[in-house]
Amino acid sequence: MTIYRFKEGFAWGAATASYQIEGAYDEDGRGLSIWDTFSHTPGKVKNGDNGDVACDSYHRYKEDVQLLKELGVSTYRFSIAWPRIYPKGRGEANRLGLDYYHRLVDELLANGIEPFCTLYHWDLPQALEDEGGWNNRGTIDAFVAFAETMFKEFGGKIKKWITFNEPWCSSFLSNYLGIHAPGNKDLQLATNIAHHILVAHGRTVSLFRKLGAEGIIGIAPNMTWAVPYGPSEEDRKACLRNIQWTGDWFKDPIFFGKYPDELRECIEGAGATIPILDGDMEDIRQPIDFLGLNYYSASINRYNPEAGLLKSEPIESHYEKSDIGWPYDAVGFYDSLRYVKDKYGDIPIYITENGACINDAPGLDGRVRDDRRIDYYKQHLVSLSRAIDAGVNVVGYMAWSLLDNFEWAEGYDMRFGLVYVDFRTLKRTKKDSYYWYEKVARNNWFEV
Ligand code: NOJ
Repeated sequence: MTIYRFKEGFAWGAATASYQIEGAYDEDGRGLSIWDTFSHTPGKVKNGDNGDVACDSYHRYKEDVQLLKELGVSTYRFSIAWPRIYPKGRGEANRLGLDYYHRLVDELLANGIEPFCTLYHWDLPQALEDEGGWNNRGTIDAFVAFAETMFKEFGGKIKKWITFNEPWCSSFLSNYLGIHAPGNKDLQLATNIAHHILVAHGRTVSLFRKLGAEGIIGIAPNMTWAVPYGPSEEDRKACLRNIQWTGDWFKDPIFFGKYPDELRECIEGAGATIPILDGDMEDIRQPIDFLGLNYYSASINRYNPEAGLLKSEPIESHYEKSDIGWPYDAVGFYDSLRYVKDKYGDIPIYITENGACINDAPGLDGRVRDDRRIDYYKQHLVSLSRAIDAGVNVVGYMAWSLLDNFEWAEGYDMRFGLVYVDFRTLKRTKKDSYYWYEKVARNNWFEV
């Protein structure tokens, strides 16, 4: 047995997102988001599932905060549904929407749990989408205004902010690959959207500083790892393109004020241009206080000129797969963290998401024996601990997710929770992994 111990003050947490858990989609003046529209469009989400009810956390938030408390975590990462605050995206703020987040945040604080708030976890108000969504620069202004309301309203209560969750998903996955809302397949559109989200991010950070808001602010891009199949330079570069597309495309402009060269060539070579206006890159390049990273999977890739935009093809490997079909390898987590340190330096890092889709259901005795999820966590936390020993400045870790929830285009069948949710009765059941993670959070160490 080896013991892996973390530094005092290391933040253990769990994460969720508004559309995935809240439900109450038309209550208290909430407007519609692009995910309401998308999930109500036949054929877009598996089994025709939608977030109308989800985990009903809008009404059951007290129960969920108790689950966090009993889990022993110090931090809860959740997101704000923009259409609850601005049903039409801008204009007059909806007091009832703000009140809901006050109730949630007050409940967290009363239970000694620090709120870690994501401003944008994909639920763009449909009214803004109707005006062109993130392709329209007006959405940047609307977002900054929404952020300003949140900073002013929750100043002193929420001290940790994330502007955007996984901007690659909101841009390329949603608008080039067409898998997430709004479901477009247009590289130019996706490239515009990625850029506008970055501008919105940078301007929000500037605003945060200008207001003198208390606390820290960062962003949470995707992080994925790819290992070259063979020793060729082509395979190596193909892997780098993979890593860079989902992650560095967003980090480089923030840290260095420019897009990654090789990938830029790749995207421009496919006919798209980046709609950079004067001042944009300066707006984007704002120092952030921390970097959030969401890590799930790794793959082995090789160069293949026929393999899509990146000419990078994942091969069938020996890696284990979670039930959603994603291959994983915890060494990739370690390597990604080293890569991030080498490239971006010693900025504090929060692992804002990490976890596995393992679809175990309660047995006859009601217990959920999700050993494979525990294994996943063990392997990845060993990598995390090794990376910290190697000097990577990781200061916190958030498990995805507290609850089984609406897994976007995959609907409710794909379960990432530490807590099982029966979506017919909405009953919550702690899984074995919950009890395992509880020990980690309480002890600040674990053994393997
Ligand atoms: C990342 C996303 O931020 C989250 O919403 C999603 O459920 C998990 N990955 C799992 O796919």
